[in-house]
Amino acid sequence: MRSLADRPESPVVGLPVAHESADLHVTGAALYTDDLVGRTHDVLHAWPVQAPHAHARVTALRTAPALEVPGVVRVLTAADVPGVNDAGIKHDEPLFPDEVMYHGHAVCWVLGETLEAARRGAAAVEVDYEPLPSLLTLPEAIEAGSFQGNQPTVSRGEVEAGLRAAAHRFTGETTIGGQEHFYLETHAALAQVDEAGQVFVQSSTQHPSETQEIVAHVLGLHSHEVTVQCLRMGGGFGGKEMQPHGLAAVAALGAAVTGRPVRVRLNRTQDMTMTGKRHPFHATWEVGFDGEGRLVALRATLTSDGGWSLDLSEPVLARALCHVDNAYHVPHIEVRGRIAKTHKTSQTAFRGFGGPQGMHVIEDILGRCAPLLGVDPAELRRRNFYLAGQATPYGQPVRHPERLHAIWARLTERAEVDRRRAEIAAFNAAHPHTKRALALTPVKFGISFNLTAFNQAGALVHVYKDGSVLINHGGTEMGQGLHTKMRQVAATALGVPLEYVRLAPTRTDKVPNTSATAASSGADLNGGAVKNACEQIRERLAEVAARKLGIHPDDVRFTDGKVTGIRFHDRDLAWADVVRDAYFQRVQLFAAGYYRTEGLHWDGARMQGEPFKYFAYGAAATEVEVDGFTGAYRFLRADIVHDVGDSLSPLIDVGQIEGGFVQGAGWLTLEELRWDVSDGPGRGRLLTRGASTYKLPSFSEMPEEFHVHLFEQATERGVVYGSKAVGEPPLMLAFSVREALREAAAAFGPPGRSAELASPATPEAVFWAVQAARQATAADGDGATGTTGTAGDAVAAGGAEPSPRALSRG
Ligand code: MTE
Ligand code: MOS
Repeated sequence: MRSLADRPESPVVGLPVAHESADLHVTGAALYTDDLVGRTHDVLHAWPVQAPHAHARVTALRTAPALEVPGVVRVLTAADVPGVNDAGIKHDEPLFPDEVMYHGHAVCWVLGETLEAARRGAAAVEVDYEPLPSLLTLPEAIEAGSFQGNQPTVSRGEVEAGLRAAAHRFTGETTIGGQEHFYLETHAALAQVDEAGQVFVQSSTQHPSETQEIVAHVLGLHSHEVTVQCLRMGGGFGGKEMQPHGLAAVAALGAAVTGRPVRVRLNRTQDMTMTGKRHPFHATWEVGFDGEGRLVALRATLTSDGGWSLDLSEPVLARALCHVDNAYHVPHIEVRGRIAKTHKTSQTAFRGFGGPQGMHVIEDILGRCAPLLGVDPAELRRRNFYLAGQATPYGQPVRHPERLHAIWARLTERAEVDRRRAEIAAFNAAHPHTKRALALTPVKFGISFNLTAFNQAGALVHVYKDGSVLINHGGTEMGQGLHTKMRQVAATALGVPLEYVRLAPTRTDKVPNTSATAASSGADLNGGAVKNACEQIRERLAEVAARKLGIHPDDVRFTDGKVTGIRFHDRDLAWADVVRDAYFQRVQLFAAGYYRTEGLHWDGARMQGEPFKYFAYGAAATEVEVDGFTGAYRFLRADIVHDVGDSLSPLIDVGQIEGGFVQGAGWLTLEELRWDVSDGPGRGRLLTRGASTYKLPSFSEMPEEFHVHLFEQATERGVVYGSKAVGEPPLMLAFSVREALREAAAAFGPPGRSAELASPATPEAVFWAVQAARQATAADGDGATGTTGTAGDAVAAGGAEPSPRALSRG
């Protein structure tokens, strides 16, 4: 019972309970930050003045005309900032810029009595711009040598010698699109200042402590003068890890200078045009395989499109480099990374945090090379899985690789892969214009923040005299079910029914110095802290109960609201009675809990160490059907076997797996960000700025048959109640969708041909892949065919470079 992973008798963790706010979500009763506006008096509304240039100098800003507009109260500019005019932690993000760095950049904010007044005021502000040259696409930035931040390399072994010795060698390029978070709740903040000048900001933020820090530095205050609360978010997906800070600071600044509450809420267009997205990536690579199709060496350069400022681009890149291996052992490897600086929104965290882009590279390589190696793609993947005793390129031993092999075998059986493959072959032989394919891909994802310091958390647990329990912890709720899990952890640790435990919204004055709720580690970290706080209280109560029962405190058990001695079920005490006794004996009934993940170390300069507590594993098998005339496709069936350790909350975990998979499928197939890359007056404008032009997955894109299975007997020692993180890893199961589309498109042509597929694999992209397959003749089975993938950023489809190119030897 002492270890972090062990569960007591009848634990509340592991029960399939619904999300703690599910009823409120579906009835509309759940309060989000912006819902508080209607309950607050005298609120001013803010509207940004967005620049119509990708890059320009602000030569004049005339706010007087805005003040003539009825209802306009104030225009916030750089001159109002008492502290640091910066929205980020890198000091490269002026909050009120004098140089416009992307189309839609807010140069100032207008405060009005109504939103409409603020909007009209913003339209009246006169700004003179001197347009400057801009870089929009990755090729443009690479060509111009426009980079920012560090340029790390992960390497091991002798890559050049490895490549030279390889039996098969290929080179290629991979272009990976970005992704809009499209959380249902757009960015929102509501700030108030009290009579003593203390600032209270309600913010839709995944990182309240950092929002607090940025608000404090903009206002020139100390952290103890600023409190940030996050009720809940209507989705964050990484988009609210760093991007809320500047918006919260605008609201706080407005409140500080007017003395009135100020609300900032972006509408959808503003949110899409102003806030960062998943980083698009570009990769060049050279890979070598031995005669059996085993990876020998990989050399790659990954360039991410960071947009105009660094934001989280460096850690995102680090995670990308740490996931290029995915589930595969690559003996000799050298992966270089760099961050392009472009005149676009500042790209940021997005579920997987660079991991998906890193894995995309190796999955693309395996998918493209398999036909050239004459090995079935699923078999090629399996053959390269990590084995016991092997380590990642950054030096972390891969623990439990046997789980990966077992998951793969389980998936093959549950998804009836062999039978369905035979059926698909028969179907394809009978249908010249429709093809099906079934692809399997694995996931290995490192859990913990790369930056070791972030792997700590705190909690505050109160037991009231009546026995009811209130918990507070540093994590935020964005729909992922963290609060549900934390209630289950507290109920388990205290041995009370779930209904005894309530949870209060996340606030920086309850638990300080918190990390972002991110890296999927919310439950691991805060769960450890909640459990620790509860155990302190339980130990004190055990002494109270032991005196009453006449037994040793170690022999007291807390189960389901009853306090007993081991085997003394004739003398059960009620939890509430023990609590009341404790109060009268003056025993402390509240505690602060703390947790730090043991055993982590990471050298970010050398890109070596053991940054992850463990790996989350999973695998998916997806079957698709492609229409040869249009490239349109259907997702017929998806099967997933995923390792969440011993689940804290199985309904929540299955929901995370389903949602992650569909969000990943959206990124890889439908969601295409396009910017105006012409030299016309709209250069730099985001063209896909709403749900009408940016295609999200919806019910019609759900797999028609969808089976999610939690891998059994997967206790993870050293994590709260033996569980594993679940938030991000399932997103990457969606590579099976992309690989199935690739194989289905290839089935329109001769076998043994490498099929390229742009990412995202929109129906249009699939259509071109089908065309290429159809045009191929058996003669070009050496792979020298195909078009280059298009970028997520509207780079025109490239041309001739045949890729992957086979480089002799054989
Ligand atoms: N699930 C929902 N419903 N909404 C979200 O915003 N964010 C994802 C994932 N699942 C998200 C979600 C991301 S990016 C992360 S890092 C994790 O949840 C964060 O929560 P956790 O650490 O509690 O898993
Ligand atoms: Mo998640 S991208 O770590 O917020």
